[in-house]
Amino acid sequence: MEIYEFGKELINEAGDFIRKRMLEDFRVDAKLNPNDLVTDVDHETEAFIYDRILERWPDHRIIGEEGHGTDVEDTCGILWIVDPIDGTLNFVHQLQNFAISIGVYIDGEPYAGFILDVMNDNLYHAGAGKGAYKNDTRLGRVQDTSLAKSLVALNSNWVIKEGIGRTFTEVVRDARSTRSYGSAALDFVNTAQGIVSAALFFRLHPWDYAAGMIILAETGGITTNLLGEEISILNRDSVLAGNPGIHEELQQYFIHDEEFITSHRKAHGEK
Ligand code: IPD
Ligand code: CA
Ligand code: CA
Repeated sequence: MEIYEFGKELINEAGDFIRKRMLEDFRVDAKLNPNDLVTDVDHETEAFIYDRILERWPDHRIIGEEGHGTDVEDTCGILWIVDPIDGTLNFVHQLQNFAISIGVYIDGEPYAGFILDVMNDNLYHAGAGKGAYKNDTRLGRVQDTSLAKSLVALNSNWVIKEGIGRTFTEVVRDARSTRSYGSAALDFVNTAQGIVSAALFFRLHPWDYAAGMIILAETGGITTNLLGEEISILNRDSVLAGNPGIHEELQQYFIHDEEFITSHRKAHGEK
């Protein structure tokens, strides 16, 4: 339990760090393209989390979005997977609707997930096999829903993309409606609470889903890639997260669609 309690304390402290740091100016830079932003606060928060973990647990390993752990190539031992700010565009434009996401895996097996909705100061946490919580309240099990009666989280960028857009368009057409929140970690906790029934992404990285997958699993939800395959915590992939009923229904849109499968294999390789 020591690591679990430490993780909760750590993410809360990182939240305090961000809320204080936001009161001062921060620099915004573009990464791969003009819409892919990173700020000083992303880097500083990752360094804060990294230093605190290694100070307490020198033999643990850490993968962070902003550059830590690029040498980690296997899942041996205790691995922390950190997104210091998930929803950086929201952070820059809205100063809200972003999260810190930390997943902990032991020898590749889920151990604990922590997601802090920083501005609302809500901590979502789960230990594998021990249930998921919003602060001190245990989350109930997700209920099966059908797509026609569901809200699903889906970013419109995927709907307009060549090779995959047609399939995502069918999902949009058949859903009750879609939502786009701009933070995958918050999409996961929204799914775990039934605020949306599923969340779909064509491309995410391990730090986007490492914590969310564990929290969702503890409410009975399922996470795979869009082709229904297990996703790895070391490589990027597509993601389909949802209650079991809608997960099964949504998967059918992708696994029978040759054009989609070809684009998926091109982007993510063969399993
Ligand atoms: C992004 C958010 C967003 C998702 C993107 C991610 P970032 O993370 O989770 O919701 O659609 O694919 O990259 O860059 O803000 O940490
Ligand atoms: Ca992210
Ligand atoms: Ca990030």
